Amino acid sequence: MKILAIETSCDETAAAVVENGRTILSNAVFSQIEVHKEYGGVVPEIASRYHIEKISQLVEQALEESNCSMEDIDAVAATTAPGLIGALLVGLNFAKALAFRHNKPFIPVHHIRGHIAANYLAYPELEPFFLALVVSGGHSHIVAVESYTGFKVIGKTRDDAAGEAFDKGARVLGLPYPGGVHMDRLAQQGNPQTFKFPKVHFTDAPYDFSFSGVKTSIVNFTHQCKMKNEEFSAPDVAAGYMNAITSVLCENFVKAAREFGYKKLVVAGGVSANSMLREKLNEICKAEGYSLYLPPLSLCGDNAAMIGAQGYYEFLAGNIADMSLNAYATKSILGERV
Ligand code: KG4
Ligand code: ZN
Repeated sequence: MKILAIETSCDETAAAVVENGRTILSNAVFSQIEVHKEYGGVVPEIASRYHIEKISQLVEQALEESNCSMEDIDAVAATTAPGLIGALLVGLNFAKALAFRHNKPFIPVHHIRGHIAANYLAYPELEPFFLALVVSGGHSHIVAVESYTGFKVIGKTRDDAAGEAFDKGARVLGLPYPGGVHMDRLAQQGNPQTFKFPKVHFTDAPYDFSFSGVKTSIVNFTHQCKMKNEEFSAPDVAAGYMNAITSVLCENFVKAAREFGYKKLVVAGGVSANSMLREKLNEICKAEGYSLYLPPLSLCGDNAAMIGAQGYYEFLAGNIADMSLNAYATKSILGERV
C-alpha cells in the first residue's frame, strides 16, 4: 500500500510517499529556517504563507521522486494535530482536497505518533511493544507504545519541553535559531563538569520532567555575568546545560523501563539528534542490556515520511476521516483534545 503523506505542523513543508509503513519511496522537505531566523523563532503567520506557497511543489516532487502518479497512490495522510493551527490547516486542506479529487481514503495522523513511527522506517524489525522517549520542540514524554495505535503516557513535562529549553539556552548564549543543534555543536568543545545546572526530579511522579528551572538558571547566570562584566566559557556553559537536561531525560527514561519491564527503548523527535543524549543512552543501554533504537539524523526532525509510516498503521486500525475533519493545535497522543 502506497501512502502520500503531508506534514506542515510547524516550519517544514514536507511531502513523502511511503510503502506499507516501512519503505520510503520519496521524502521531500522544504525547511523555512532561513525565513524565521531573523525573528529568532517561528512566526506562525509567515509559516502558514510559506506552506501555501510551497505545498504543491513539494507534493509534485514527492510523487515524481517516487515514480508515482496519483493513480498509484492508495491513500493520502496528513498531520492534523498538534502544531501551529494555520500551518496545520494548509497541509490538512491540501491533503483532503487531493483525497477527494482522486477518491482516496484520507488518514489523519498525530504528529508525535509520526515521530515515533520514524523508527519503523529505519528499523524493519521494530514492532510494539516498547518504551519511547519523545523529545521535540513542544513535547517531552515517556510513552508506553503498546501497539501501533495504542499508547499510554507514563511521564511528561510539567512546563517546558526539552527542545524549548535548548532553544532558550542557545538564545541567551547568542546562538542562531533553531538553537538546539548549535548548542549541541558548541557543547562538544566544552567541559560538562565546569558549570552545574539544576536537575529536577519529582518524588511523587518519578517519570515527569520540568525544564523551566534549568532555563531560568541559564538566563540568570548569563545575566549576572554581564552585570558583573565577568567572562565565561560559552562551550563549558553549553556543555553543563546540555548535561543537566540530557541526564534527567536518561535517568527518568531508564527508571521507567526498569519499573515497567521494557527491554526495547525508542527515542523520537527533534532532540533525538542531540549527540550527548545519544551517547548517554548508548552507554546506559549497553550496560543494562536494553535494545536501543535511535532515529537516523535524517529522520529526527520534522518530515512527511514518518507521517506516511504512522498513516499506514492508522489505516490498518480503521482510522480514516471524512472531509469534515478539522486540525487541532493541541491534542494528546491518545487522541484527546487538551
Ligand atoms: O521534532 P522537531 O523537529 O519539531 C517539533 O515537533 O517540535 O523538534 C525541534 C526541536 C527544536 O527545539 C530543536 O532545537 C531541537 O529539536 N533540536 C535539537 C537538536 N537538533 C534539533 N536539540 C538538541 N540537540 C540537537 N542536536
Ligand atoms: Zn516534530
